[in-house]
Amino acid sequence: MIYINNLTKVYKTPGGSLTALKDINLHIPKGAVYGIIGLSGAGKSTLIRCLNMLERPSSGQIILDGQKMTELSGKMLRKARQNIGMIFQHFNLLDSRTVAGNIAFPLEIAGWPKEQIIERVKELLPLVGLEDKADIYPAQLSGGQKQRIGIARALATKPSVLLCDEATSALDPQTTVSILNLLKEINEKLNLTIVIITHEMKVIKEICTDVAVIDQSQIVERGPVESVFIHPQSDIAKEFVSSIFPNELPNELLRELSLHPGSQIVRIHFLGTAASEPLITDLIRHCGVSVNILYGSIDHLRSTLFGTLTLELQGSPESLHTAGSFLQSKNLTVEVINNGN
Ligand SMILES: Nc1ncnc2c1ncn2[C@@H]1O[C@H](COP(=O)(O)OP(=O)(O)OP(=O)(O)O)[C@@H](O)[C@H]1O
Ligand SMILES: [Mg+2]
Repeated sequence: MIYINNLTKVYKTPGGSLTALKDINLHIPKGAVYGIIGLSGAGKSTLIRCLNMLERPSSGQIILDGQKMTELSGKMLRKARQNIGMIFQHFNLLDSRTVAGNIAFPLEIAGWPKEQIIERVKELLPLVGLEDKADIYPAQLSGGQKQRIGIARALATKPSVLLCDEATSALDPQTTVSILNLLKEINEKLNLTIVIITHEMKVIKEICTDVAVIDQSQIVERGPVESVFIHPQSDIAKEFVSSIFPNELPNELLRELSLHPGSQIVRIHFLGTAASEPLITDLIRHCGVSVNILYGSIDHLRSTLFGTLTLELQGSPESLHTAGSFLQSKNLTVEVINNGN
């Protein structure tokens, strides 16, 4: 759907050249909710703005829905942009227009006939839950409602891609969840491809199917969300994952546990139905180990259950071995953190 090939962006500044993106290669499949996460200044906004040519790449290629965006200009580019919706952190609404007027705006620019615009706005209002707000002005609405206008406006021309630049960063946690749920619903209902730029792992966890981590102008890691959460490779990805699933044990506890002879500390990650199996009972009953629960959490990645459990297992070397094989046989991701003496 979207191919980013060898994309580089260099800004000319009074202080010299600044490389904001360095040789980015990324494929975003149709229907994906693709998250791009990075710290401030990593190059996220530059990357998303290159997708619709709000920012011209210095070199490389963007192919979107089969169209070479990087080769378009003028009228052709304006036409191609109708296939790409975008929403922003600060909504960028027109205060002098009503909700309906804001949603109609891109259609007026695209030259739609008046009757069709009215029809289209009527379809969009209920899609974003604003059916009773058509004639209200943005100033009278909450941040979440303003972002709903932003989403309706972005979808007005029936684009096949929606770009979101920190779309929930200005919202409180509860409103963030409602906007993310709306985006997920739209993704599923319309099979719309969504690209989300964020610095919050929570956003990735709630709705993304895939994630790429950008650090200092480069993509350092990418993959399906489950695999990046379970096996983060780069230091920065590990930090992002532990920001919402903290799994470091306090040093005092580790020191104390290291004094237990014949004990082993294991961290287990489980996905989906494995989360509802009576794992600990089985370990005790079938493997002859005693189990001390050190840390546990259960949450979800998009709609899949995702759990982490850190256990201290105690027993003879044979029973620890049996426990290890038992956990492997359950298709769980098991990491031995510390083998006792
Ligand atoms: N128009 C510009 N001219 C010069 N430098 C720029 C311009 N836009 C961005 N930069 C620089 O490029 C780098 C990447 O900026 P970018 O805005 O893409 O980062 P970001 O990941 O979106 O950060 P944030 O999370 O703070 O929004 C930064 O060093 C920034 O100062
Ligand atoms: Mg930014």
